[in-house]
Amino acid sequence: MVEDNIRGGNVLDICCSTGLLGQRIQDELKKTVVGVDADRKSLQNARSYGVDVNLVEMKIDATNFSPLISVLIKNDIEVIVARRCLSEIFFNHIDQGAVFAERLLKETNVREIFIQGRREQPNATHPIPSCSAEVALLGDLWVVEYGGFEMAYLREKGK
Ligand SMILES: C[S@@+](CC[C@H](N)C(=O)[O-])C[C@H]1O[C@@H](n2cnc3c(N)ncnc32)[C@H](O)[C@@H]1O
Repeated sequence: MVEDNIRGGNVLDICCSTGLLGQRIQDELKKTVVGVDADRKSLQNARSYGVDVNLVEMKIDATNFSPLISVLIKNDIEVIVARRCLSEIFFNHIDQGAVFAERLLKETNVREIFIQGRREQPNATHPIPSCSAEVALLGDLWVVEYGGFEMAYLREKGK
């Protein structure tokens, strides 16, 4: 899995749903993982599946990242894993992606972002239709160190 290449410490599984990705990272890579998702039912399912990462119920508001930034700081998060997530959060607020990306660098210790997005489709109607579109919305303070059709690994530009 792409996340095998995580270098940093604590990990946020953003839009974690039932938390299974975060659990795998916690078990296999021995990282402390926090999962955030808006959907209470998914988090309840996660617990019923035995997921024991720290799960936080939170609807991430693309016009107010402060609650999420607080979670990142409180848990000393250094890595974000965003699988099929940024296209949801930024659906109506593409212009806020760069704001978020900048706040990560200025206010938190996050220095790695793993994105897994949609595969490019020729007739896509979604405003954020692909992984490369998710990368682009984050602006130019982060660079793709490696990536493929559906995934990208980003680090702070110039570091
Ligand atoms: C396509 S699922 C992906 C789940 C998981 N990352 C995976 O790859 O299996 C999208 C998830 O994003 C969550 N989500 C969507 N918008 C959100 C928001 N604004 N804040 C928090 N979670 C959100 C949904 O509840 C859902 O669990």
